[in-house]
Parts: sequence; C-alpha cells; structure tokens
Amino acid sequence: MSHKLRSSRIDALVRCCHSVNLCQKSTMLFQSISRLRLQSFPRRTIRIVQFHINCNSFNGNKLGDVSEYKIINEGKAEILQPSCVFYNPVQEFGRDLTVAAVANFVQIRQQEIKDGKFKKGQYLTKTFQGNSDRRSTKETSHDDEIIQAGKKYENEISILEGLSASGLRSIRFGLEVPGVKRIVTNDFDKAAVDIIQKNIERNKLDHLVTSSLGDASMVMHMSKGTDEAFDVIDVDPYGSPAQFLDAAVQSINEGGLLCVTCTDMAVLCGNNPESCRARYGTMSHKSSYCKEMALRILLQSIETTANKYTRYIVPMISIRADFYIRVFVRVFESAEKVKLSSLKFGNVYHCMGCGSFTLQKLARKIPKRNAFHIVAEYGPPVSDKCEHCNQRHQVVGPVWADRLHDVDFVNKVINYVQENKDDFQTHRRIMGMLSLISEELQDSPMYYLIEDLCKAVHISQMKQQMFMSALLNAGFEVSMSHAEQNSIKTNASNRDIWDIIRSWEKLHPARQLRLVPGSVAANILSQDPVLDVSFDQHPGAKQESKKAA
Ligand SMILES: C[S@@+](CC[C@H](N)C(=O)[O-])C[C@H]1O[C@@H](n2cnc3c(N)ncnc32)[C@H](O)[C@@H]1O
Ligand SMILES: [Zn+2]
Repeated sequence: MSHKLRSSRIDALVRCCHSVNLCQKSTMLFQSISRLRLQSFPRRTIRIVQFHINCNSFNGNKLGDVSEYKIINEGKAEILQPSCVFYNPVQEFGRDLTVAAVANFVQIRQQEIKDGKFKKGQYLTKTFQGNSDRRSTKETSHDDEIIQAGKKYENEISILEGLSASGLRSIRFGLEVPGVKRIVTNDFDKAAVDIIQKNIERNKLDHLVTSSLGDASMVMHMSKGTDEAFDVIDVDPYGSPAQFLDAAVQSINEGGLLCVTCTDMAVLCGNNPESCRARYGTMSHKSSYCKEMALRILLQSIETTANKYTRYIVPMISIRADFYIRVFVRVFESAEKVKLSSLKFGNVYHCMGCGSFTLQKLARKIPKRNAFHIVAEYGPPVSDKCEHCNQRHQVVGPVWADRLHDVDFVNKVINYVQENKDDFQTHRRIMGMLSLISEELQDSPMYYLIEDLCKAVHISQMKQQMFMSALLNAGFEVSMSHAEQNSIKTNASNRDIWDIIRSWEKLHPARQLRLVPGSVAANILSQDPVLDVSFDQHPGAKQESKKAA
C-alpha cells in the first residue's frame, strides 16, 4: 500500500468496520502510515486501518494459512476462525439465547398455522399478497413428522443473518433449530464470506445454509415481497443497527421475528444525546435507569420505522447483557393497530437534581360516537421545579412506554433451555436472566437504584430487601430489573420512594455538615414523610429468581 493513503480512503474505511490483530508486515506498514498521515486520527480510525491492512494483506492471501485459524466449538457447531474475521467469545450468551428464542419462535409459528392464525405461505406482507408471480402458497407434507434440526423443510422458516462474520450463529441455527427451510448467512466482507463458506462445508450444512456477500440492507430489500423473504432476521452489527432497521422491518415476513443488537451503549445512555437523536430519533440522557431507557429508545425506533410501512412490533424479549442490548420483536401488519401505536410511546420528565422520573404517555384515547380517537396527552405532568428537591427537569423522548417482554414467550424459552441444557454452555445465566425478566413488573417502566437514592441524601446504603420490604409493607408492587443490580421497579410514586428514604434517614441520620441549605439532600430531607413506612422483613422481598440463584 502506498504511503500516500488518502484521508478520504481512510474515512471510507472508518465507515466500514473495526477490528484488530496485526501481522508483522502490517505493523510496519501501519507505523509508516501513522507517521505520515494519521497523527491526528482517533484511535478507532487507526484500528480500522489496521484491520484492512491485515485482512486485505497485500500478499494476496486474505485469510492467511488455514493452519493458523483457531477452531471454535460452540453449541453443536465447530468453526474455523481466522484472526481477521470478527469473533467475540463473550457473546456466546447472546448466541445461545438467540438459538433458543428462534427455536421457540419456530414452534409458535407452527402452532399458529395449526390454529389457522396464519395459512402456510401466507406470511408475506399484505402489500405483496395477490402479487402471485412473486410468491407461492405451497403446502408442506410433514404435518405429522417429528421435525428435526439439520434437515431442510420446504415452506418452513427461513432465516437471514445479515451481519454474520464467520457464520457461527447461522451454523448453530442450522444444527440446533428444528423446522428450517433455509438460512442465508451474509456479510459484506469478502474474507468473512470465504470463511462462512468453509464453515458451512465443515458442518455439512450445504443443503440448508447459503453464504452471501453483500450489504445487509440490500439483501433484505431484494427479498422483500418474494418467496425469498425471511421469517427471522438477525441484525448484529458493531455499534448501532439504525441503518438496517428500515430494510429489516419492511422485508421481514408478517409475524416474523426480528432480532437486533446495539452495542453503542454510551450513545444510548446519554453520552452523546445528539447522536442518539440522529440514530434513533430520541435524545438520550444520563440516569440511574439508562440501561432500560436504552431498550426503550431502541424499541421506539423500531416501532416508528415499522409504522411507516403499516407495521408494528410486539417485543418478545428485551435484554441488556454485558456491553450491549438485544431485542427480539415480532413484526405484524395492521393499519388499525398502527393507529394505536401513539399510545405505546411516552416522554420522561427526569429531575436533574434527585433523579425522580415521571413517564407521560404521548397520547390518549377519547370516545367518539361508538368508537374513539387518539389525541395528544395533556401536559406537563410535573411542575416547573421538582417537588422533592427543587431542581429542573429534562424532557426525554419519545421512548417505548409499553411492555418490554412477552412473559409467556420468556417462560417457553426458559423451559426449552432447561430441557436442552447440554446444547447451551451459558444455560445457567440464560435461565437466571430470563427468570428475572419474567418477574419484572411489566407495567412499571424504569427503575430506581438504591445506591443513587441514598447518595442523593448522603446516607449509608440501604439493603435491597429492606427497601423492597418497605414498599411491599405499604402495599406497593415491587420487582428488580434484569438490566441493573440492586434495581427497584415499583408502582409507588416518587413521593413514596422519597418517603421511604426520609424514614430511613430518621433511623440512620445523614451528617448535618453535608446538608447545605438549598441542596438536593437538604430539600428532600426538609419534608416530613407522609407514607407510613415499616422496614419489617416482608416475605415477598426475596424474588424467586434470586432465591434460585
Ligand atoms: C459484530 S460482527 C457479527 C458477529 C456475528 N453475528 C456473530 O454472532 O459472531 C459484525 C459483522 O458485520 C459485518 N458488516 C458490517 N456492516 C455490514 C453491512 N452493511 N452489510 C453486511 N455486513 C456488514 C462486518 O464485516 C462484521 O463481520
Ligand atoms: Zn428532584
């Protein structure tokens, strides 16, 4: 490569991808380039250039020597993994969960066909129904057969992994998910697709899995409304999936399962609110509950995108794990339901002093003759200054204000993983996480962190069970959130929450020196609690999933 690598080229590389692992020759080249052209480029750019030098290594052998590949065993798959193609062992949890979720989705789909909810071959978006030269309505002949993984079933589920790297996830779908018609394993990196093909052959899945080289959005758009459209689409990018959502929600078959990962957590959690708005349509903000907000921002974005095409989503599982969030949503089509979508959005008023939050729905229903219509909600739901600490609010939204999970589906996945433990290395974590999810209060968005509540008034931290007991003794509902440790979800109001803190402070006083007049802590503690608080141990304060763990 010439030392005169142009900045515009580097910019293009920035947009392409980022990864690591330099061979010695690339290191030398890279060092020369760095000296000449890149002094002022951020570290991420440098990593991207490293990637390209490595993967396109100029000796013409992109993937290097097969003997240098690692062999990865995960689930039932055994794949070859060269250093220049993405692989993250930490995401085995996410892949295990996805395999289990997709396997359960297939069963649900089959049941829906039996129940007559969908006819076989009738999954296509209504926009394309009647376009008979583009679709078929073939019937299958395996109604009484025991459906197996690894076998091809005509007119059953088709899966697209749009961004596949080495194809590990798709190979696992092929070997572990029963009732599949075909799996397309796509990546826009030639080196990745070469290794995908090798891995398909290695796992003897040529009859079921096809490698594909292309831009994921393009592949989705090309499939739209044809026999080739997909029932399951997996979007697992570096960073934000925003650019793929439009194609995904349009092209997926009616009732299909869309699985989306975001790793740009900093953006979603308020580090760059303006980038969050540009990607997802919502200003993010910093808060104790930002991990759940990240999920709500993503779901809002998918729903808004789907609504443009008379489609809407139903979240099945929305999960935050490690450094990413991932949602599994079904995509349906209905002009009537889309009209109701405004009821699923809300704005959050977040106090910048004490962190109290109030969710206000975007819209409300009002009766109209024998029906109703949807109008904007009244507002604001809070005063100019926070009634607890006298600070101002930030308004954040719109965000998804509806349920995050389908608990029946979550329980089905738990049972499936329990019954097939040997196939899932991370089964303990999946069952623990999904149990927490199944116990989450579905209609109490966001959560409090006890640590942050106590910090706000300078008192020592209260135990989670103590806090939960106080809420339960006062008659409120309470659960944890899977998204954060020591989190509290409840239907109690901000005032009730602060009353519990105030009552605790009376038993364990804050140091007066730290209660500067006019400060957040002083303002909160200057009010007497109204709620009758008891810290007696409540039997419900120990959640089932915690007991099991
Ligand atoms: C995070 S990795 C995928 C990991 C994989 N799903 C797994 O489970 O191991 C992201 C992959 O997306 C590919 N990629 C990035 N942008 C793409 C695009 N527009 N179309 C297709 N592939 C893309 C990259 O080459 C990379 O291999
Ligand atoms: Zn406040």
